[in-house]
Amino acid sequence: MNIIVVKDYKELSERACSIIENQIEMRAASVLGLATGSTPLGTYQELIQGYEEGRTDYSRVSTFNLDEYIGLSPDHPQSYRYFMNQKLFSHINISDENTYIPDGKAEDLQKECIRYERLVEEIGPPDLQLLGIGENGHIGFNEPGTSFESETHIVQLTDSTREANARFFSSMEDVPTQAVTMGIRSILKSRRILLLASGERKATAIKQFIESERTEQFPASSLKDHQDMTLIVDQAAYQKAIEKET
Ligand code: GLP
Repeated sequence: MNIIVVKDYKELSERACSIIENQIEMRAASVLGLATGSTPLGTYQELIQGYEEGRTDYSRVSTFNLDEYIGLSPDHPQSYRYFMNQKLFSHINISDENTYIPDGKAEDLQKECIRYERLVEEIGPPDLQLLGIGENGHIGFNEPGTSFESETHIVQLTDSTREANARFFSSMEDVPTQAVTMGIRSILKSRRILLLASGERKATAIKQFIESERTEQFPASSLKDHQDMTLIVDQAAYQKAIEKET
């Protein structure tokens, strides 16, 4: 595992952006695995700027998002589809039909999970998967206790994850209780993984990530076995991991 420690969020976003842009430069028809949450927002802004400056062409790129809330339609402002359209897709020249996100309103959600996993296999797996980390070590919506053998599946969100995400909703009651997420095994299929962590809020999770053995109680620890995994972390998020060394 490579660990890149950067000064702050701005630098983290620039580094992540240049890794993604290099990937697309290497292969114009790259498949990218994308994430939602606050962490990748700066990276998306950098990518948009790169596109506007003519650095990157997304016309042959495909993307897979990790997860989607169950019950929210694509035009619901808190759905991950809406988030991705607003924060990235509508600002670059990617074709709509090349952007994949699980359908949280599918009539048969079990079927939707199987369909999505097949798509990941057929079109992907991603050349590069971008990931954030939850404060409890979740990746995608794979909560502690999720099997490392899991593929795309339905999850019950923990209270801590719902609370952490409540800031995007008008009240706690509005936060969905379930989601569809790519599983740990699905995520590990990616050729390269880029995990981002920024800010003090993530310091405990990063310390645990660096120190822990592989355990299903801490989903991000599954990434430690991946053959090409990079963590970009800013000083605030890295701080507790270093405290131990000194
Ligand atoms: C959500 C998403 C994850 C994300 C995590 C961290 O639960 N499902 O994919 O990594 O939150 O979010 P943030 O980057 O806002 O801290």
